[in-house]
Amino acid sequence: MNELLRKLLNLPEQISQHAREVDGLHFFVVLTTMAAAVVIFSVALWFMVRYRRRSEDQKTEEVQPGHWHEAVFVGVPLAVFLLWFAIGFPQFVELTRPPADAMDVFVQGKKWMWKFAYPGGPSAIDVLRVPAGRPVRLLITSRDVIHSFFVPELRVKQDALPGRYTQTWFNADKPGRYQVFCAEYCGLSHSGMLAELVVMPPGEFDAWLAEQRRGPALAQDGAPAPGEVLLPGSSIADQGRAVAVQQGCLKCHSVDGSRHIGPTFLDLYGRREKLSSGESVDADEPYLTKSMMDPAAQVVAGYQNVMPSFQGRMTPPEVAAVVEYIKSLKTPAVHAGPSEGPVYESTPRK
Ligand code: CUA
Repeated sequence: MNELLRKLLNLPEQISQHAREVDGLHFFVVLTTMAAAVVIFSVALWFMVRYRRRSEDQKTEEVQPGHWHEAVFVGVPLAVFLLWFAIGFPQFVELTRPPADAMDVFVQGKKWMWKFAYPGGPSAIDVLRVPAGRPVRLLITSRDVIHSFFVPELRVKQDALPGRYTQTWFNADKPGRYQVFCAEYCGLSHSGMLAELVVMPPGEFDAWLAEQRRGPALAQDGAPAPGEVLLPGSSIADQGRAVAVQQGCLKCHSVDGSRHIGPTFLDLYGRREKLSSGESVDADEPYLTKSMMDPAAQVVAGYQNVMPSFQGRMTPPEVAAVVEYIKSLKTPAVHAGPSEGPVYESTPRK
């Protein structure tokens, strides 16, 4: 059924479970609206015959709809809308929550190309290789204007915004080559801002990645400028710590929960912060990014507005890496054994 409708509507292939689910909802919406249209037009036709004027002097009587008429008119379409919502909302929630074991790939859009970087190397321009059957999280940012990362076969589209980063994820289960588009008009060569998604069998991907890391990983596409793509290392969070040290973040922010010139980074991610303006915000990715670009806009209550802006002083990948570093700083669970939970170099909270 799904496949038949996909062909009928001339939609691209589905290469992930998410794509099949999105199409399932799409087809359900199309079918219910078509069924509703058939019902409405049939009733209209029947009314035209049943209530036609039978003589020249016939007068139309006034009809007052009863309460149950009103209830059906409002209730049935509302129930259909709510049903669509009940199917679509869990799909949306799933797409916003990458699995914890997802492989990270850093994506940077710029006029007019896509750059991809794996946390441990290598980096590539306009070719994104991923293993089939494994979740992949994309950390997406832009170096200039708004772009949008779009792979029709995955039914995944996510904006790339300068000065902050967004994320999405997918689990492609069908090896092959697929087109990546830019789906946000970004200038003269917007239509040419293409890349290729190569979904490889997992074994082949592992071999390729190992091969790349053995060789001069970053030389693949010429040497990028420092900070332009992430350097090889164990994870994006580790890169972020290096950037935080280099930029002096840790001179004012502790990572062990102690109060310093600025709020501590420990458990900052996801915390509800009270601002000096009296408002509260959740310390999520957009807030953390904004704090670096425009610190004066949202000062946490009880702290001085002394932080300089890092706009232009850090590249988007560096900003994203620092955010990932902050996200990694969590108090280990109380009952965790010595080998569980993240380990910090700094002293634990007293
Ligand atoms: Cu980049 Cu359109």
